[in-house]
Amino acid sequence: MANNLLKGKRGIIFGALNEQSIAWKVAERAHEEGATFVLTNAPIAMRMGEINDLAKKTGSEIIPADATSVEDLENLVSKSMEILGGKIDFILHSIGMSVNVRKGRHYTDENYDWTMKGIDVSALSFHKVLQTAKKLDAMNEWGSILALTYIAAQRVFPDYNDMADNKAYLESIARSFGYYFGVDKKVRVNTISQSPTMTTAGSGVKGFNEFINFSEQMSPLGNASALACADYCITMFSDLTKYVTMQNLFHDGGFSTTGVTQAVIDKFGE
Ligand SMILES: NC(=O)c1ccc[n+]([C@@H]2O[C@H](COP(=O)([O-])OP(=O)(O)OC[C@H]3O[C@@H](n4cnc5c(N)ncnc54)[C@H](O)[C@@H]3O)[C@@H](O)[C@H]2O)c1
Repeated sequence: MANNLLKGKRGIIFGALNEQSIAWKVAERAHEEGATFVLTNAPIAMRMGEINDLAKKTGSEIIPADATSVEDLENLVSKSMEILGGKIDFILHSIGMSVNVRKGRHYTDENYDWTMKGIDVSALSFHKVLQTAKKLDAMNEWGSILALTYIAAQRVFPDYNDMADNKAYLESIARSFGYYFGVDKKVRVNTISQSPTMTTAGSGVKGFNEFINFSEQMSPLGNASALACADYCITMFSDLTKYVTMQNLFHDGGFSTTGVTQAVIDKFGE
């Protein structure tokens, strides 16, 4: 179902690792909706090679960039404008990684070098993307920039570990930078808080299978899929949402405002 919602728009999409990636689905949907864009990921992720298939399918070029490196980001943003033939209308930041999570280090026993790495990759990188785009005057007016987040920024989910703190920081950056980008350039900045989704990053969290089932039962509409998330991102990149900025937008089938569901209560009667 394509409606030309992004016809003539130019973008940069971070974080498509494989077909499961939320960014992958966003790229496919953005292409269907008429956008042209550059795909980017960390040089190490490029080695997996799958992004080449996505590039072919969507007629996109790939520019490797470590999102923690301002130098890489400057190169990415300026080359993207050259390739796409003008300023940028939308950016998706779909990046997350915690070394403490990866290595099974408990939240009360963090390795702080790993914590700092996770903060840099998962949150500060968003500030770096925003700052680079602003300094290079790379965004068109009414452009839209999104990052993906999770409700562990507001509520405790024990196995989410230090990613909870990273997401809280990420969401705060969207608000703070959104103010300046709005006033100076009419660019909107938001985060989308997505349901748990079976991807490489998601399944790295301990007990993820059980958790995704719990979340399904706790959401009146069920968990939102990666494709549904992509659809939401497309609307946020379109001109139909021009006055939405500095928001954390829940895309979670109603999970965030549900205290308990009958399905979960019934489990305790068993
Ligand atoms: N999967 C879930 O349950 C879920 C739920 C809510 C939010 N999110 C968020 O969605 C976003 C996308 O994750 P996903 O679930 O699609 O998983 P994914 O593993 O497919 O994507 C994560 C991406 O981050 C990239 N990345 C890591 N370090 C990087 C760096 N230094 N520079 C550039 N890119 C780097 C990876 O290469 C990968 O492409 C993340 O922010 C994640 O936290 C995921």
